[in-house]
Amino acid sequence: MSAESTITTVPRLAPGTATVLAGAGLEPVLRIDDLHKHFHLPGEKRVTAVDGISLAVNRGEFLVLLGPSGCGKTTLLRCVAGLDHPDSGRVAISGRPVYDSSAALNLPPERRHVSMIFQTYALWPHMTAAQNIAYPLRTRGVKRAEIKERVERVLDLVDVSAQANRYPNQMSGGQQQRVALARALVSESELVLFDEPLSNIDAKVREQLREEMLEMQRTIGFTALYVTHDQSEAMHLAHRIAVLDDGHIAQLDTGRAIYTRPASRYVARFIGRANEATGNVTALEGGRASVATPFGLATAVVSGDLVETGETCVVTWRPENARVDPVERADAAVPASLVIEGDVTARVFVGLNVELLITAGDRTILALAPADSDITEGQRVRLSVIPDGLLAIKNPTEA
Ligand SMILES: Nc1ncnc2c1ncn2[C@@H]1O[C@H](COP(=O)(O)OP(=O)(O)OP(=O)(O)O)[C@@H](O)[C@H]1O
Ligand SMILES: [Mg+2]
Repeated sequence: MSAESTITTVPRLAPGTATVLAGAGLEPVLRIDDLHKHFHLPGEKRVTAVDGISLAVNRGEFLVLLGPSGCGKTTLLRCVAGLDHPDSGRVAISGRPVYDSSAALNLPPERRHVSMIFQTYALWPHMTAAQNIAYPLRTRGVKRAEIKERVERVLDLVDVSAQANRYPNQMSGGQQQRVALARALVSESELVLFDEPLSNIDAKVREQLREEMLEMQRTIGFTALYVTHDQSEAMHLAHRIAVLDDGHIAQLDTGRAIYTRPASRYVARFIGRANEATGNVTALEGGRASVATPFGLATAVVSGDLVETGETCVVTWRPENARVDPVERADAAVPASLVIEGDVTARVFVGLNVELLITAGDRTILALAPADSDITEGQRVRLSVIPDGLLAIKNPTEA
């Protein structure tokens, strides 16, 4: 067993403590400033895993780190927990510095008062569920009677009381992860770090645990920094999402803002599904850009960094932000930010609606139609992107 499973914590919040999102002036529970961490294995290229990350997580907040494999999510959590030694920067937990490269400060994990929960449950195989959960309290010398009471309470909270006396190999994956969750919560740490805790669990149990975790977070009021590469999990759980790209934060905002106003092409592509084209900015007015695209002239809301007249930008839209009509029934008076005519090359019924692939010139566009739509394969259609549904995003290759 590694040191990872023995992080000890100090009780801070009593169960039932109200969840309060910190307002202006309140100290965040976690503050990370300009953190850097690289790895250099012999014979390999140097890898910058964390590349100048700064963020603050407010009291009672559920902040999700979302990003593709290898973008530095686990490394960032491990630096916060004290399991990895950063190159430089600062980390403060509940206002107390725990790492500061300029002051040569680097507190060990057990003095940081955080709990961490891993993708692999990391339970002690020779201990029962109850003993595993009691472990962090025992190592801190908490009295027997208090341990018993707290373990029972948290077993009940994560709904594994019936399995209290089972060993890990006598429990399902979902039950083991509940026990791991209970072990992280029993210490009542203010800050709980989660590293993809649900990714080894089947879809149905995952959804259930996700809801339960939210409920527990509301009840207990812990502050969460939660890693996942699953978008829908991020959208469900997060007050705010930090989208990571190769060791840095590409965007930090609410799920809705990230989805509707992605700051970059990377974010637009990574979150949800999007169609895109490049075009030349011909005019700018009131936060909107006129863009000459291969499909014709478009009017797009500028999202993220400002674009300039004369430069190439990316226009992008979500499939749900366009309506599709057979050309002969299309109403030219319907306001649209971009109109495209094309042929339906594929039609797939997916339950809530019908997905259409539309070919226009040498491009293929993904569109949606109502489930009862009579549009068929081979039909000529007109696609109209709704007025605010088209975004103009700075083209990262133009700099
Ligand atoms: N101990 C290590 N030694 C060398 N390189 C490492 C080490 N740990 C991580 N890395 C590298 O650092 C980068 C970030 O890894 P990290 O584990 O933080 O990614 P991640 O976002 O958690 O990915 P995943 O979603 O696959 O878990 C990767 O390129 C990885 O190969
Ligand atoms: Mg990881």
